[in-house]
Amino acid sequence: MKKIIIAIDGPAGAGKSTIAKKVAALLGYAYIDTGAMYRTVTLRFLESGLPFSEEAVTAIAEKISITFRYGNGVNRVFADGEEVTDAIRSLEVSRNVSKVAAVGGVRTAMVAAQRKIGNQGGVVMDGRDIGTVVFPQAELKVFLTASVEERARRRYLELKEKGTEVSLEDLEQRIAQRDALDENREISPLRCAEDARYLDSTSLTIDQVTEKIAAMAREVL
Ligand code: CDP
Ligand code: CDP
Repeated sequence: MKKIIIAIDGPAGAGKSTIAKKVAALLGYAYIDTGAMYRTVTLRFLESGLPFSEEAVTAIAEKISITFRYGNGVNRVFADGEEVTDAIRSLEVSRNVSKVAAVGGVRTAMVAAQRKIGNQGGVVMDGRDIGTVVFPQAELKVFLTASVEERARRRYLELKEKGTEVSLEDLEQRIAQRDALDENREISPLRCAEDARYLDSTSLTIDQVTEKIAAMAREVL
């Protein structure tokens, strides 16, 4: 059977990575978390101690080799062979990632790497611009969203489970700020592709969303 490209875009905390992972497992496809790639460039930039400039972050993005290894339900991320799976989830990286991801040189390097990984098909790729820019020819595009309150609540519960206490109001504000940066940037802003299926998951469980997207994939296949 032909292996297609499934693009899942949407704002922070919509459930993209959770659901993309499950859909990929159901189909025997690879799951590619493009947000992790922008987070990895951001981590390396923060570690460099350099002041922020487009040149500095572009130079990092052009040199870095980002790879994924999937096993036991965990998507492990490596930068030039060194594992950064946990380090890229820090609040500091989350706070800076949208600024780094708005830089044209960074996006050019990441989009090229993503196309190289996915162009043979058999991938579920999640991010902000997969259906609009990276793979406009993807056979299935989903724009997954939920209300900002629900997305903040989900993130809050997730952090709490990991032992990190944050204020729900603060989290909601930071998510809204990141959404605004992602939606209003000049290059590849977050938006629903014209031919994407819009799915609001505010009152849906993980299993319900997975089933809906799996059904869409079966229909396309
Ligand atoms: O998991 P979460 O929704 O918090 O974010 P993420 O998917 O890890 O993405 C982190 C950030 O990377 C986003 O807020 C965007 O600024 C950027 N990003 C992007 O610009 N384009 C993508 N294809 C994926 C992520
Ligand atoms: O990748 P993205 O930022 O879009 O979201 P995620 O990291 O997959 O999901 C954020 C949190 O919401 C996770 O803890 C999921 O388990 C949870 N979630 C949920 O409770 N209900 C859904 N329908 C989808 C995700």
